[in-house]
Amino acid sequence: MLLTPLCSLLDINVPIVQGALGGPWPPSIPLAAAVSEAGALGSLPTALRSAEQVGEDIAALRRLTDRPFAVNHTMKPFVEDVFAEIVRAAPPVVSFALGFSPDLVKRAHDAGSLFVQQVHSAAQAAEAADGGVDVIIAQGGEAGGFGGAPSTMVLVPQVVDAVAPLPVVAAGGIADGRALAAALALGAQGANVGSRFIASEEAELSNGYKACVLAARSDETLRADFINHLVPPSSEGAYPAAPRVVQNAFEEWQGRDNEFQAMRDKIADRMRAAMRDGTVHELMVITGEVAGSIDEILPAGDIVRRMATEAEAVLRGLGRT
Ligand SMILES: Cc1cc2nc3c(=O)[nH]c(=O)nc-3n(C[C@H](O)[C@H](O)[C@H](O)COP(=O)(O)O)c2cc1C
Repeated sequence: MLLTPLCSLLDINVPIVQGALGGPWPPSIPLAAAVSEAGALGSLPTALRSAEQVGEDIAALRRLTDRPFAVNHTMKPFVEDVFAEIVRAAPPVVSFALGFSPDLVKRAHDAGSLFVQQVHSAAQAAEAADGGVDVIIAQGGEAGGFGGAPSTMVLVPQVVDAVAPLPVVAAGGIADGRALAAALALGAQGANVGSRFIASEEAELSNGYKACVLAARSDETLRADFINHLVPPSSEGAYPAAPRVVQNAFEEWQGRDNEFQAMRDKIADRMRAAMRDGTVHELMVITGEVAGSIDEILPAGDIVRRMATEAEAVLRGLGRT
């Protein structure tokens, strides 16, 4: 079995964390449950959810699994009611991204939860380590969702060195066992995987969205700064970040900030209509560069098991050249 100290800390059997997939779609509770049941760490997103919904989501997940899971929140924006509901529910793990505040670590710890902080630079990692977090996710620029620039290969060893002996989990571009093995070789104790789980049976993103991820080539994604004008403003302590999306006609707005600002309300109406009729993917497909390596929708448990088995085989084979 592929066990690292992270596995004992999080009480999991496979060093894989499912990255939260927040957005204008349901929170994919069955995905988090399937991942946790397969021995990895499932995650619930809270983006765009009310405090009441978050309470119900956590209760629903607890009915599906008694294995550990994470509940995620971010600074884009930070919603006090939602964070208060998370700590009230005291999940095994609170994961946080897109900004940092040491107060949040204390609140999670007081509730008995572990605190996992995602970062995009070694400096952010050092600040989080000083703030008392239990695990750092070092997310490279190729990742899906909001992020920064340095690639996973460059960032992970820097973060490992900056925060040793704190456990580091690598994120960005990891969709198979070879990449999980590479993350371990870089000094990480596990992998945080997002895009691969969009193409799972349990993810509650639309079939149209999943089809766009399967079809996308790696050179077809870009970090779309202009989309920041559509989402609520970041809260204090937020990291600079932009979402990585598949290039489509919507990205004609990239670099045309003034025009986009002028059209913002109309575009926001169009986005709201797309959210209602399940066609968000016609405007915006958030995914990482690794979409170019994903060509099959699988049960989430199979994704976890295949990655672990393949990583074990890769690591065994490395000494035998
Ligand atoms: C559609 C989508 C939504 C995401 N939503 C969140 C979120 O709500 N909170 C968060 O911390 N990260 C979010 N992320 C980032 C993922 O949790 C994960 O860190 C990232 O996808 C890892 O990189 P990969 O896509 O290359 O696997 C999202 C990513 C995607 C693709």
